[in-house]
Amino acid sequence: MYSEKVMDHVRNPRNVGEIKDPDGYGMVGNPCCGDVMEMFLKIENNIIVDIKFRTFGCGAAIATSSMVTEMIKGKTLEEALNVTNKQVTKALDGLPEQKMHCSVLAEQGIRAALYDYYSKHNLPVPEGLKQSKTVKCAD
Ligand code: FES
Repeated sequence: MYSEKVMDHVRNPRNVGEIKDPDGYGMVGNPCCGDVMEMFLKIENNIIVDIKFRTFGCGAAIATSSMVTEMIKGKTLEEALNVTNKQVTKALDGLPEQKMHCSVLAEQGIRAALYDYYSKHNLPVPEGLKQSKTVKCAD
């Protein structure tokens, strides 16, 4: 039921771990399944130079977290802000419909880490960016 790309990221997730003293840190959880994801960002000159994640979650949460880290590493903050869970799942050749909500953790984890970066550095927080601790059960 999972694509080859999803299985590849589940078996061999990229950028797993943590960054000590991250410039941005986000943690989001899904209250229905109890899955939790953390994102750590290192940012220099408006570029995401390093990113790591830890997920206590299902295969779809691991694969989407892994893929999103690959998609935004080396990108500007504005580019990272525009990445959506739909783009991430497309890059993984799709997810089964009932697992689509898992990809929201990856998207919201990045956004929570970016919110943390902007607010910690007294920078204007872009419109619509919120501190997010939980996501909706299904999306
Ligand atoms: Fe919880 Fe997938 S079932 S994130």
